[in-house]
Amino acid sequence: MEVTSLEALPLDGARLLILTGAGVSAESGLATFRDSNGLWEQHRVEDVASPEGFERDPHLVWKFYSLRRQQATTVHPNAGHAAIAAVERRLGDRFLLVTQNVDGLHQRAGSERVIEIHGSLFRTKCSGCDLEPFDDTASYLGRILPTCDRCEARGGSALLRPDIVWFGEMLDPGHLRAIDAFIRADPGRPFFFMAIGTSGAVWPAAGLVNHARAVGATAVLVNAEPAENASRFHRFVQGKSAEVLPALLGVEGSASR
Ligand code: OAD
Repeated sequence: MEVTSLEALPLDGARLLILTGAGVSAESGLATFRDSNGLWEQHRVEDVASPEGFERDPHLVWKFYSLRRQQATTVHPNAGHAAIAAVERRLGDRFLLVTQNVDGLHQRAGSERVIEIHGSLFRTKCSGCDLEPFDDTASYLGRILPTCDRCEARGGSALLRPDIVWFGEMLDPGHLRAIDAFIRADPGRPFFFMAIGTSGAVWPAAGLVNHARAVGATAVLVNAEPAENASRFHRFVQGKSAEVLPALLGVEGSASR
């Protein structure tokens, strides 16, 4: 691993898989998880991001996600999000974005080929049945929490919950298949894997670099500090994503639609 300067990656004719984490949204004003003053310093993960925590205190969990919903709607995508959307417009189907972020900022910046592996702040699902997750921007800060009509119609009762993948829960197998299919497609082409703004602490996302490298990808890490899995990358560009991505992705000046 070497720390490199900011020459643009040779993406012409190449394929690109990007994995993003909370660092990409930091310059939009959203807190990351593991930095000082990050969300996990202010909250116990098991209280607000586990099925057991929801069972114990659903009011606390809904308060946490309602405040994050509200906050995410008041901020705006930054130049890093815009650069990622711009490189997708250049590469088309040779591009895939896998994000651990639940804030919707990539889509608001114009990204279309996006897989939200940890869910979305702006969808709600049932904690008791397989009700299709639905779009929801509401805040549940009071004493009355939303319940599932479908469960009630069947004589039961269950609270609705945010459509977030909590600790101890599985990622959507359909998402994993789609990512795997992208990694394995078109093996003759140059292939780049980039992890951006993520600490490399949460699996299986942190292992994506290994899958991409297994089919010959060149792996590039863009992060404010070395990630936990930094040794798995061929190149490390240390910096803030909004500052380095336009040049690194070769989209300076074309980042807006
Ligand atoms: P973390 O908070 O673990 O890591 C954010 C990373 O971004 C850190 O390594 C920072 O150094 C880096 N960073 C901060 N500001 C940056 C900037 N402006 N530009 C580039 N890098 C910057 O967040 P994630 O890796 O996304 O899961 O966390 C992974 C998962 O853990 C999250 O999706 C969440 C959490 O528990 C769930 O809630 C399911």
